[in-house]
Amino acid sequence: MLPSTILVLFLCGIFNDVISTPTPPQAVLSVDATTPADPPAQPAGRKLRGRFLHVTDMHPDGYYRAGASVSSACHSNKPRKEKDRAGWLGTPYDECDSPFTLTNFTLKHLDKHWADEVDFVIWTGDSARHDNDREIPRTPSEIYNLNRAMTKRMEEVFTSRGVAVIPSIGNNDVWPHNIMAAGPNSITNEFSNIWQSFIPFSSFQVFQRGGYFSVEVIPNEVAVVSLNTMYFYDSNKAVGGCEYTEKEDPGNLEFDWLEVQLDLYRNRDMQVWISGHVPPSPGNYFPGCFVKYADLALRYQDTILGHLFGHMNADHFFFIEKDDLDLPEENSRARRKEMLDEALLNDFSELPKEGKTNLDEFAVVNVAPSVVPNPYVPSFRVFTYNVTGAEEDGGIEARRKKKKKKGSKRKHGHRRPEKDRPAKECKEKEERWECRPKKPWYSDASAPSRKNELWSPLGYAQYWLPDVGSANDTHGGKFKLEYLTYGLPSLRGDKPIPAREVPGRLRNGSYNGRLVPYSMDDLTIGSWVSLGRQLGNPKKRKLRKRFRRYLYLGLEDDVD
Ligand SMILES: *[C@@H]1O[C@H](CO)[C@@H](O)[C@H](O)[C@H]1NC(C)=O
Ligand SMILES: *[C@@H]1O[C@H](CO)[C@@H](O)[C@H](O)[C@H]1NC(C)=O
Ligand SMILES: *[C@@H]1O[C@H](CO)[C@@H](O)[C@H](O)[C@H]1NC(C)=O
Ligand SMILES: *[C@@H]1O[C@H](CO)[C@@H](O)[C@H](O)[C@H]1NC(C)=O
Repeated sequence: MLPSTILVLFLCGIFNDVISTPTPPQAVLSVDATTPADPPAQPAGRKLRGRFLHVTDMHPDGYYRAGASVSSACHSNKPRKEKDRAGWLGTPYDECDSPFTLTNFTLKHLDKHWADEVDFVIWTGDSARHDNDREIPRTPSEIYNLNRAMTKRMEEVFTSRGVAVIPSIGNNDVWPHNIMAAGPNSITNEFSNIWQSFIPFSSFQVFQRGGYFSVEVIPNEVAVVSLNTMYFYDSNKAVGGCEYTEKEDPGNLEFDWLEVQLDLYRNRDMQVWISGHVPPSPGNYFPGCFVKYADLALRYQDTILGHLFGHMNADHFFFIEKDDLDLPEENSRARRKEMLDEALLNDFSELPKEGKTNLDEFAVVNVAPSVVPNPYVPSFRVFTYNVTGAEEDGGIEARRKKKKKKGSKRKHGHRRPEKDRPAKECKEKEERWECRPKKPWYSDASAPSRKNELWSPLGYAQYWLPDVGSANDTHGGKFKLEYLTYGLPSLRGDKPIPAREVPGRLRNGSYNGRLVPYSMDDLTIGSWVSLGRQLGNPKKRKLRKRFRRYLYLGLEDDVD
């Protein structure tokens, strides 16, 4: 798809399905309440780097042939015109998947440049080709073999060094694509096997049923949850879409599990990254699943460091807000098609003014662009997070003990004020979602998601491969820095990104161009909201143009 054809139903999902009547909350949360006390992912003795990778949507395609016609999904024919031919390393801004030359090249680059520089890897799925060639339909065994091949490389590059990899299931990792019924089934069985080295033993049973799990990437401190978003994705016609009356719906069971995880981690004073393939937006999730996601994202704001997803291939972020807690009225949002950039900027322009913003009511979702150059160019992302002092004074263990002695510093949850309840509607329809008794809301202005402290996300560096189309086996093919969220002062010395991975002109603090568009102090919720507010201001033309350019990885001219 080219961006001009990407019509995104973003803020205005299509709600085809009849919204059923919600039921009161379920008390039964203990069904699969595995205590997340898993084998340490971070080997003792390995020093924390304070960085992790987010890699997504690799889409390897074994049928890709360099020189084949782009219109055949880069599978066959020999077009006369150069521009119609598939590239050696990949075909940018078009609809082909990744040749193995590209996935190999990318993993080799990560191996050489990043594997020793990161603590863990979040890998959000779609490790098989698209079903875009009628002559060669995909088969389940092809999909699993592609996943197996990618997993093997990830193990060689990362697991072998003690770097945890946390994969998640993408909508193209299943057959037929988008469709996944409640487990256990052949899909969960197969991935239990393929991802054996990634899934902690204690998570195995849950994974076999649901395809989701969690890993303590820094034992007793930081965990990563891998969600199976197939049960929330509104293209999956094999599930119920988290309707309230269907307690056994796999999406509802997954949210029950997630709530238990968040509660357990919170009680242990831990922090959690949430990851998955399809991002939680009204345009992607069934309405019931979206509301439940929003509920947990906001109510556990003091425990969740961030929300990391893939699937869209376009680079962007968006907010989950308090208003998202109300199930939209049926047909209340007109079916409206908007470009993604337009939808996001419109959404940002509606952010409340600075003095009127209650940051308790926000969560930020970050969507990373893909490795596959379909429809843009290959990319990956390196996050930095705060490890200042983590390993001093006896390190994490000592800190832990001290904290235990002093008792948890967690603030008690507060409840949503009753006046938020739509009283009239609740009288008429007690079973509406918003009418359920309110559960505690855990937000805290001094939590790492809100204030820069230990484990807070600090920034990311976005890398891309702009010359993918012209590279051949002897020339070209170089991953470059596309942009950084950091401000220039933070780039001095070796932090947050190793000096060799930052162009020299950035390091001495004299450059002020499109590589450093945002100058964010950190990636706390407040920093995102103030960036959103700036982007929502039509007067900030340069900033908005840059945002669009990153969103479509260099195709900005198409969208103006
Ligand atoms: C990619 O790497 C794998 C494993 O290292 C190798 O077997 C394969 O031949 C490579 N393929 C290409 C096209 O480079
Ligand atoms: C990490 O947080 C501490 C406060 O706990 C702060 O003093 C320090 O500057 C932060 N580190 C970075 C790199 O921002
Ligand atoms: C590879 O690309 C370079 C630079 O574009 C070109 O000079 C060279 O002839 C190409 N090599 C092959 C084998 O096509
Ligand atoms: C920073 O580095 C660039 C290129 O490396 C150089 O041209 C410039 O003079 C330097 N500026 C300062 C303030 O050192």
